[in-house]
Amino acid sequence: DTAEDLVSRPPVVTIMGHVDHGKTSLLDYIRKANVVAGEAGGITQHIGAYHVTLPGGRHITFLDTPGHEAFTAMRARGAQVTDIVVLVVAADDGLMPQTIEAISHAKNAGVPMVVAINKIDLPQANPGRVKQELLNHNVVLEEFGGNVLATEISAKKGTNIGELLDQILLQAEILDLKANPDRRASGSVVEAQLDPGKGPVATVLVSNGTLHVGDDFICGMFSGRVRALLDERGKAVKEAGPAIPVQILGLTGVPMAGDQLSVVEDATAARDIAQRRERL
Ligand code: GTP
Ligand code: NA
Ligand code: MG
Repeated sequence: DTAEDLVSRPPVVTIMGHVDHGKTSLLDYIRKANVVAGEAGGITQHIGAYHVTLPGGRHITFLDTPGHEAFTAMRARGAQVTDIVVLVVAADDGLMPQTIEAISHAKNAGVPMVVAINKIDLPQANPGRVKQELLNHNVVLEEFGGNVLATEISAKKGTNIGELLDQILLQAEILDLKANPDRRASGSVVEAQLDPGKGPVATVLVSNGTLHVGDDFICGMFSGRVRALLDERGKAVKEAGPAIPVQILGLTGVPMAGDQLSVVEDATAARDIAQRRERL
């Protein structure tokens, strides 16, 4: 892509942190939906992808991740497709093993972090201790002369969520994120499964270009033609541009999370490439 082809795109922001520190609750508040109530035992077991339009018309794509220790690989993938990590730390609990793991994922992926010190509504909240613990793990907040932004929030009460969003958008501005919406789409699989009714379904985060209904593609080992695109609420859409997550129908098999999707010229090209991959 030449510089003239590139236009600003929304930031992709992954929410990470220890189990039950309030990642999904924060996204819930931002989305004004209620995902936590619908989860098995209130534990996130997959990466949810959501695109939000904020007042003022700005856009952010969020990826929720599970905090449970079993899901290290998912968190590592989340850190790889993201522009910014929001590290959620419960102020009553402080830095815990998966908080520390998330810090190292973000550092290894070279992704800037914005810290959300959550649950400040609790009487036992101790945000000062959290800041000290962060410093001990070489996460140096602005108030200590570093460059990491932090906000004290309550996801439950909605306290300071606007400030947190401003910090995310500020960090995104510094990154100056761009893509070319006028090329064949490429993206990566966030999650995929076999749906009893719909067949193989994948949630794909488009990284560049625009994905359309009818596009021929390869995805991991499989080829396909986009039969339908669904947004995170299950609503059919005609296309998805850079940094937009969509569910795609029309795969010939279930790809793996992390697989790349690339739109190709036509169905023959898609099948050829898929067959070559199968032989490898
Ligand atoms: P996993 O996905 O399992 O890692 O958890 P999570 O980080 O998504 O946490 P979740 O949003 O499921 O919240 C865990 C519990 O903390 C729930 O009971 C929430 O209601 C509660 N909680 C979240 N945010 C706050 C907050 O700001 N204040 C208080 N008091 N409770 C909160
Ligand atoms: Na939880
Ligand atoms: Mg969760």
